[in-house]
Amino acid sequence: MAGPAAASTGSQTGEGQKREGWSSRTAFVLAAVGAAVGLGNIWRFPTLAGENGGGAFVLFYIGCVALIGLPLVLSEVLIGRHGRSDAYGSAAKLAEDSGRSRAWGVFGGISILSAFLILTFYSVVAGWVIYYIGVMGSDFLGALFSGNPLAGALASENPQDIMARMTALFADVPLLLGMHTVFMLITIWIVARGVTDGIEKAATYMMPTFFVLLVLITVYSAFTGEFSQALTFLFTPDFSKLTPAIMNAALGQALFSMSLGSAALITYGSYVSKDTNLPPTTVMIGFADTTVAIIAGLMIFPIVFAVNLDVAAGPTLVFQSLPIAFHTMPGGSLVGLLFFILIFFAALTSSISLLEAVVAWAKTQLGWSRSFASWLIGGLIFLIGIACALSFNMWADVRLLSFWPLFADSNIFDTIDGVTGKIMLPVAAFLTAIFIGWRADKQVVAAETNLTGGMLVLWRFLIAWFAPIGVGAILLFGLFPQLLPGG
Ligand code: PHE
Repeated sequence: MAGPAAASTGSQTGEGQKREGWSSRTAFVLAAVGAAVGLGNIWRFPTLAGENGGGAFVLFYIGCVALIGLPLVLSEVLIGRHGRSDAYGSAAKLAEDSGRSRAWGVFGGISILSAFLILTFYSVVAGWVIYYIGVMGSDFLGALFSGNPLAGALASENPQDIMARMTALFADVPLLLGMHTVFMLITIWIVARGVTDGIEKAATYMMPTFFVLLVLITVYSAFTGEFSQALTFLFTPDFSKLTPAIMNAALGQALFSMSLGSAALITYGSYVSKDTNLPPTTVMIGFADTTVAIIAGLMIFPIVFAVNLDVAAGPTLVFQSLPIAFHTMPGGSLVGLLFFILIFFAALTSSISLLEAVVAWAKTQLGWSRSFASWLIGGLIFLIGIACALSFNMWADVRLLSFWPLFADSNIFDTIDGVTGKIMLPVAAFLTAIFIGWRADKQVVAAETNLTGGMLVLWRFLIAWFAPIGVGAILLFGLFPQLLPGG
């Protein structure tokens, strides 16, 4: 149902050339939820929650989502819808229409660069997922042919062997690079196909299925694992543990997970028709994203406790605990296979949005064709991604930012992850909030949001005051804890 935008401001384009767009509101919601829900929820959130002590991190994270994330989702989508361009062009256009300098486009530019960098390591992790699809797939076929389709996953192994698979994978350079290649090729191929034929189709098939399986597996995990211990870990805050660095990580994760500060939502917003009511749509995106992150935590930590994994194990946590869950589960071989396929699709709908954010810029600002831009930019990301994959083996000791205490101990993978998540996304979010709250034309912005009365006042307060002060303070003290009184 592509609603003709009647006599309103015109959802087509003023410049004669036809812009791509979503075929329906549902398509937009699925694509945006697809962009938001991904490895950030299922892999990065549990990893960080574990490393940062659980409860306090999680509650602070939820606060960031509600008070900073949600108002920003609305802001980014409206910038895109108003500007009808890539993240840089849309921000510059809204600035221009507000009688401000087009230099405001710079936060769009930072966002695009973040999307580019994030995809370099994202694809490597997605590659691990592909590896597990292979492992579970061959395991399931084996079970099937031996007449036992409902076997648990990797029935002949014990939990120690299963965990050791991850270490073995990290040592296997060709395998890691191979999986990274496969993932990038698929991402590029879909983005090259375009908004409706590629991006939208991928999301419409994959997202609904994803949700069903997620719930099923969580219910299973709740009954078999140490559920109450997980609940305590995730929701009992010990606020004395909440250091500025942890707050910075939580804010960065909230932005990362909701795809904020990284051009994806501005770009997706630019394909939304003028008759879509943005506030409920954007709240839905934020709500779905946060729910999935919490569910992922409730799915993973009961098992982590049941098999005595170290909660602070880092990036391997999820990939070691989930296969063990499937190991003990009747039918786990099949469920495990399906589950990794679904994580794969969640990752794919996100990686698509990351690449699209950069490709849309190259199309508009450099005049490149969609497919040329997809292959060239995707290729560059692939090349840098190789360095991320080598961070787990050959280049484990390379320190890009050894002079900077915050990253002195980080390999290439962690450095790119940290610089984008802890610095670039918050900086872009800060500038977006200042721009929408203080520089953009109030009438234009209010009209795009459709908000009136108290809700408009609340949103304005959050975006003009709360978000910039909150993000600014977290960023400042996160990066320079020595500025704090006892720091
Ligand atoms: N939000 C995605 C996830 O949680 C990752 C992402 C970040 C996608 C930034 C687009 C932009 O996996």
